[in-house]
Amino acid sequence: MDQHSLRTVAATRYVTPFREGGSLPGLVEADDLGMYVLKFRGAGQGLKALTAEIIVGELARRLGFRVPELVLVDLDPELSRAEPDEEIQDLLRASQGTNLGVDYLPGSFDFNPRVKEPGSDLAARLLWLDSLVLNVDRSWRNPNMLLWHRQIWLIDHGAALIFHHRWQPGWRPAPTYRYDAADHVMMPVAGSIAEADAALRPQVTPRLISEILSLVPDEWLDPALGSPAAARDAYAAYFAARLADAPDWVAALEETRAARV
Ligand SMILES: Nc1ncnc2c1ncn2[C@@H]1O[C@H](COP(=O)(O)OP(=O)(O)OP(=O)(O)O)[C@@H](O)[C@H]1O
Ligand SMILES: [Mg+2]
Repeated sequence: MDQHSLRTVAATRYVTPFREGGSLPGLVEADDLGMYVLKFRGAGQGLKALTAEIIVGELARRLGFRVPELVLVDLDPELSRAEPDEEIQDLLRASQGTNLGVDYLPGSFDFNPRVKEPGSDLAARLLWLDSLVLNVDRSWRNPNMLLWHRQIWLIDHGAALIFHHRWQPGWRPAPTYRYDAADHVMMPVAGSIAEADAALRPQVTPRLISEILSLVPDEWLDPALGSPAAARDAYAAYFAARLADAPDWVAALEETRAARV
């Protein structure tokens, strides 16, 4: 499915918090009668986490992974009136405006490779993707994948692209980044990363990256870098640098794979 913008819906009811989520995501109903896992702009991780969710989630989708639909959710702080829990009231009030919604997959459960063999090809591709975007949130402790209708769905990309938390005017991507994949949930089952690289790298074109970056609302982008266009250029520069370094990090992933027991 190719999208040139994310859908926007309005939250109509706050249903319940997801207690297991570190950022206190909540289940909301929206005016399209859909149910969404709401990632709040007012949560501690801030707008950069929501930005990473869109960039990485939509990149993953375009590379063939299953990702629940992402939508923009307008939140009216009046919804907090019906909410008895003070912590949640505060979060709702702090999140007036545009938030991120993740289509709720009812009846899904947390995936781990002991439950279902993911296949060596999918495992290798996911390692490649997470290494491209520096996603450390896919360990066996916290795999951030759901099993739904017998398929693996990727969630929770807010901790990827960590470099953007240290952005300063004049920022330039590093030629190389440290990424430790030893704990990655797919490492024990992954097939050839070099093959995943050969299949995926040519697909991550500058055009694809710019299409994905255009899905991020302007007002979420870091004003420290200047205009929204400048912030998008900085993300694009990161991807260009990280892809140029792929031969090295793919070799490092292969070494870790060869050393696994
Ligand atoms: N689209 C979804 N459909 C069904 N359940 C979901 C969905 N998204 C998240 N969940 C459930 O909510 C939990 C928390 O979501 P998520 O991992 O995105 O939040 P988080 O605050 O970033 O969590 P953490 O930092 O603890 O990993 C998930 O582990 C999962 O059980
Ligand atoms: Mg999570």
